[in-house]
Amino acid sequence: MRAMRWWDIPAVMAIEEAVFPATAWTPAQFWSELAQEDRTYLVAERQERIVAYGGVMVRPPTADIQTIAVDSGHRGQGIARDLLGRMLVTADARECAEVLLEVSADNAAAIALYASEGFEAIARRSSYYGPGLDALIMRRRAS
Ligand SMILES: CC(C)(COP(=O)(O)OP(=O)(O)OC[C@H]1O[C@@H](n2cnc3c(N)ncnc32)[C@H](O)[C@@H]1OP(=O)(O)O)[C@@H](O)C(=O)NCCC(=O)NCCS
Repeated sequence: MRAMRWWDIPAVMAIEEAVFPATAWTPAQFWSELAQEDRTYLVAERQERIVAYGGVMVRPPTADIQTIAVDSGHRGQGIARDLLGRMLVTADARECAEVLLEVSADNAAAIALYASEGFEAIARRSSYYGPGLDALIMRRRAS
């Protein structure tokens, strides 16, 4: 696990396009994210290949999980939990009172991950990701 650098963007994009075919960020969006001081982006590597990434925006008293994605061949190994945990440590270190995120209401795997790390659904946004595709807003309060 290490910080994402600009030269990682092509490898990250390959996962991004496979995981989020309809809504993939562009390389320019990743460039923009990495350029902002209040962002922390991490990548996970296996055999020197990037297999997952995640990013958080930390603006005390609030932090926002921006994204998290694991290559389909490397799921179920605790990589997302590790990434999320590190992002939460970053938010806690900056004394954020709450961490927020948006997730598709039909994404059972991600919702289970977030719930197991202390997030609770606080709102539902109807058709946020397109017709019939609702978003859940989840929040984790600092303990
Ligand atoms: C959601 C995602 C990030 C999970 O990554 P992962 O590395 O496989 O997750 P982990 O192995 O760290 O699992 C952590 C927890 O997530 C939940 N989880 C993961 N996969 C799950 C599945 N298929 N079904 C139900 N729960 C699941 C479980 O609570 C799991 O804990 P457990 O292993 O103790 O049961 C991954 O499936 C992914 O990249 N999905 C596509 C992108 C996405 O949906 N991103 C999140 C929204 S932005």
